[in-house]
Amino acid sequence: MSLIGLDQNKSEKIAAKLNVLLSDLEIYYQNLRGFHWNVKGNKFFVLHDKFEELYDEAAGDIDEVAERVLTLGFQPLHSYADFIDNARLKAVKNVSDGDETCKHVLSNLTALIELEREILELADDASDEGTQALVGDLIAKQEKTVWMFNAWLS
Ligand SMILES: [Fe+2]
Repeated sequence: MSLIGLDQNKSEKIAAKLNVLLSDLEIYYQNLRGFHWNVKGNKFFVLHDKFEELYDEAAGDIDEVAERVLTLGFQPLHSYADFIDNARLKAVKNVSDGDETCKHVLSNLTALIELEREILELADDASDEGTQALVGDLIAKQEKTVWMFNAWLS
């Protein structure tokens, strides 16, 4: 039994996958910063601002996910080396075309949502309502952003 009354082994598996999500969010965050800095062209002002809004939001999400790991009784990853080792997402470098940056954001978000759905299944099996609520909110927010970027690109 964990400190919050959940099965210890199941909590450990959830925390491990939350650490993968944390790592992916860190890569996503830094990708967005790169797009914010590097984007060029006649959509510059719109995208430059939008990417800043998204990385600010991601920074908050990173903190929530890390603190959920702690709440479950485990340690969140916190070094760049560990994030790179554990992330599924890859760093995107040297992209400045507006549509290309948007496509990378879309594929990053799709991958994040896929991982979050895996976490939801684990959390459901453990009756871990707190993780489900957190990850469910992330999914809903990111799905909405996917819709908006697809609308922008179409
Ligand atoms: Fe800036």
